[in-house]
Amino acid sequence: MPTLTPLIDAFGRVHTNLRVSVTDRCNIRCFYCMPAENVQFKPRHELLTFEEIECVVRVAAHLGVNKLRLTGGEPLVRHGLPVLVRKLASIPGIADIALTTNGVLLAEQAQQLKDAGLHRLNISLDSLDPETFFRISRREGLDRVLAGIAAAKRVGFEKIKLNAVAIRGLTEPDIVPLSRFAREQGLEMRFIEFMPLDAEGNWDNEQVLSGEQIRAVLEAEFGQLVAAERDDPSQPATDYHFADGGGSIGFINPVTQPFCASCNRLRLTAEGQIRNCLFSTEEWDAREILREGGSDAELAELFRASVGAKRAGHGINSDEFLRPERAMYQIGG
Ligand code: 5AD
Ligand code: SF4
Repeated sequence: MPTLTPLIDAFGRVHTNLRVSVTDRCNIRCFYCMPAENVQFKPRHELLTFEEIECVVRVAAHLGVNKLRLTGGEPLVRHGLPVLVRKLASIPGIADIALTTNGVLLAEQAQQLKDAGLHRLNISLDSLDPETFFRISRREGLDRVLAGIAAAKRVGFEKIKLNAVAIRGLTEPDIVPLSRFAREQGLEMRFIEFMPLDAEGNWDNEQVLSGEQIRAVLEAEFGQLVAAERDDPSQPATDYHFADGGGSIGFINPVTQPFCASCNRLRLTAEGQIRNCLFSTEEWDAREILREGGSDAELAELFRASVGAKRAGHGINSDEFLRPERAMYQIGG
C-alpha cells in the first residue's frame, strides 16, 4: 500500500498519533476510571489479536500516523505485550512508540519492553502516600509502582513521565511531595485534570483541581516556574521549568484549558473500534472489517470516515455536553 493522503479533518487538524488500547482489564481500580466491583470485562475473543492490531496500525501508518501509544486498562496485564511492541516497532513509518502504565507490573517487564523497541514510558503515580494510593486505586501496590519506576530507570528509559490525576479535596497534599520526588529522580511530573470519564458517573466540576491551582501551590514552594518552549504544538501538556534548572513540570488541563484545537490523536479500543476523541459518542468498527476478510483500503476508508466526523472539541464545559457511554478503562487513556 503506498502512502495515502493524510488524515485531515474538517478543521484542518492532521492526525498522526494513534493510541492503541490493548485490554480493558486492570490490576487496580482507580475511581476516576473504573467501577469498584463487578467490572464487566470484554471476553478475550472480542479483543483484537496482536496480528489484528498490527494490521490496523500498518494501514494507519500509510495514512501518516507515525506515533503510537499503548494504553489499557493496564497494558501490562495483556500477556506478551513486548511481542506486540516488537511487531509495531518494525512497521515502516512508526517512529515513536510509548506506553502508559500504572507501573504495578513494570519491574518484571521493563527490560523486555526496552529490548522490544519501546521508546517512551508514562507511569501513573497519583500519590506517594500509601493511604491515598489505596483510596484512589482501591488496591495496595504503591511499593510495586515505585519498584517499577526504579526498574524503568535502570534499564535505560529516558524522559520518563509520571502522571498524576489531581483531585480537589484529596490530592492537594501530594502536589509538592510528588514534584520533589520527580525532580530528585530526574523524571518529569505531570498533573492531569480529572475528566468526566469515571465509570460510576460521580465526576463533578467541584473535584477538578485545575492546573493553575496546582501551579500556584508549586510556586509557593519552589519559586516561580518558567514557561518552556512548546516543541510540539499538538502536545497536550503545558510545560514549565523550575527556575533553578532542576527539572520540569507539565500540566494537562483538558477541563479548564481544552487543547482540542491542536488535537492530532485517534484511538483504537481493545475490541477494535476507532474513536476520534476520548469523548466521542460514535465509533467505527475496524474489527468487523478485519474479521470479515475486508481489505486495507476498507480500513483506510474507515479511518477517513472517523476523522471526517471529528468534532471541534469535547465541550465538557457546555450545557449540551454528553458523557460518552464508555469509561476511561474501556477507551484507553
Ligand atoms: N481523568 C483524567 N485522567 C484520567 N486517567 C484515567 N482516568 C482519568 C480521568 N477520569 C489517566 C490516568 C492514567 C491514564 C491512563 O489516564 O491517570 O495516567
Ligand atoms: Fe487501571 Fe489506569 Fe484505570 Fe487506574 S486509570 S484503574 S491504573 S486503567
